[in-house]
Amino acid sequence: MNLSLRLKAVEELVDNNSIVIDIGCDHAYLPISLILNNKSIKAYAVDNKIGPLNNALLNINSFNLNDSVKTILSDGFKDINISDYNTVTITGMGAINIINILDNAKSDQLDNKTFIFEANRDSEILRKYLSLNGYQIIDEGIVKEDDIYYFLIKAIKNNKMVKLSDNEINYGPFNLIKKDILLKEYLNKMLSIYEDAFSKAKTKNDSLRLKIKNIKETLYEIE
Ligand SMILES: C[S@@+](CC[C@H](N)C(=O)[O-])C[C@H]1O[C@@H](n2cnc3c(N)ncnc32)[C@H](O)[C@@H]1O
Repeated sequence: MNLSLRLKAVEELVDNNSIVIDIGCDHAYLPISLILNNKSIKAYAVDNKIGPLNNALLNINSFNLNDSVKTILSDGFKDINISDYNTVTITGMGAINIINILDNAKSDQLDNKTFIFEANRDSEILRKYLSLNGYQIIDEGIVKEDDIYYFLIKAIKNNKMVKLSDNEINYGPFNLIKKDILLKEYLNKMLSIYEDAFSKAKTKNDSLRLKIKNIKETLYEIE
């Protein structure tokens, strides 16, 4: 199973011997690969649409993994009646959708689990939500694929409140600590976009000016 760079990076953040529930599995490439690579001992592939779930089932059948990867039709955690998973992956959707899925789950479906998130947009909104709702970020990663930057977040729900600074919310506490080379690249890209927009703006744009200032300061900090 040849995973995309993005899903490969998600897989790398999953702990060995985990039991994973992949919410929004689509094709189920991730749960299949987790079993094939002996990362997980069992996986649940969940989607809220029958089309993707049927595709998932075909893929699972083609690898003869029906005993170790089970499909479940469910909107988020709504129809999830199993509890033996220790890891939740939610990737490839917007932060708001991820937050809705978490908000609509029962606490015993989330407490003390390990999570790997990859929001296709608004990662800062997801980090803020996590920090205010008892999730502790324990690792992060950035992947660039087809010129798009993807931000990955590994967290545990231990119901401790961990306050994050604005920069940590915007760019990720571990990405900043690691001085991730892709974070620098991403910030330089955003800087040139904002500077270009600022130079073309017909009226004074304070919000753009502040963004440019913040990115320059952040780049200086992670030099
Ligand atoms: C773009 S795909 C991402 C697939 C895979 N997770 C990945 O990262 O490549 C998003 C999938 O999430 C499913 N989905 C969206 N909202 C969902 C929800 N509330 N509950 C379950 N699945 C959902 C969609 O049907 C779709 O198959």
